[in-house]
Amino acid sequence: VSALHDESLAPALDAMALPGILIGYRVIAPDDAGALTDEETSSLPSRLPDALRASGAARIVARELLARMGVPTTALPKGPSGAPAWPSDVVGSLAHDDRVAVATVARRTTMATLGIDVEPAGPLPDDLLDMVATARERLVLHRQPAVGRLLFAAKEAVYKAINPLDGIFLEFHDIEVDLAGSRATTRNGRTLILNVANAAHVVVLARLA
Ligand SMILES: CC(C)(COP(=O)(O)OP(=O)(O)OC[C@H]1O[C@@H](n2cnc3c(N)ncnc32)[C@H](O)[C@@H]1OP(=O)(O)O)[C@@H](O)C(=O)NCCC(=O)NCCS
Repeated sequence: VSALHDESLAPALDAMALPGILIGYRVIAPDDAGALTDEETSSLPSRLPDALRASGAARIVARELLARMGVPTTALPKGPSGAPAWPSDVVGSLAHDDRVAVATVARRTTMATLGIDVEPAGPLPDDLLDMVATARERLVLHRQPAVGRLLFAAKEAVYKAINPLDGIFLEFHDIEVDLAGSRATTRNGRTLILNVANAAHVVVLARLA
């Protein structure tokens, strides 16, 4: 957890602690683009200051977590799929919203893949909910705004875990989320476990069941 503190998110992430999986966050700071290596900067498609700051913040968090695992400091450039290139014995995932960046890492011997997403808490607009939720999910949702946001974050986290592992593209409706059961299933037959931190920002971690 970084020095830039979010009082609601820190305890929510602590409560999500899982053996062998490190999760951290950082409130994005004005100078965070400065943390990007030249290799990382040239790998990122956007030159917009806000995007660079967010990507820098996420990599600050990831490098802190890797250091805690005893992994030497390394660049984490974006690969062709959009996913960051992790050291060969590590799996991980990054995400950012407008204010906060998060990262998760684990040894590849502990986890085959990880996905994470962060979103500002708050209702998901109705048109987005229609795009994200399957018919079955909508039955459970009853259009509860807070749940819509969780559903969205869960699907993004699942995509980030499955795309690097299986090399497939997933649409929102290719992922079926059971929030009550903390599970998601994908079109290609993967089942994932979901862990949720529900605070001023919503964080969902996805890992293989
Ligand atoms: C991957 C994706 C979901 C990220 O969502 P986003 O809202 O743009 O951004 P987030 O802040 O949540 O995450 C960004 C991080 O995701 C990671 N990421 C990007 N593409 C990735 C991929 N294919 N696999 C794993 N991680 C990926 C990167 O680390 C990125 O951070 P960086 O730009 O600093 O390197 C999105 O960019 C994408 O590729 N979507 C296509 C698939 C999709 O949307 N399907 C429907 C939802 S399942």
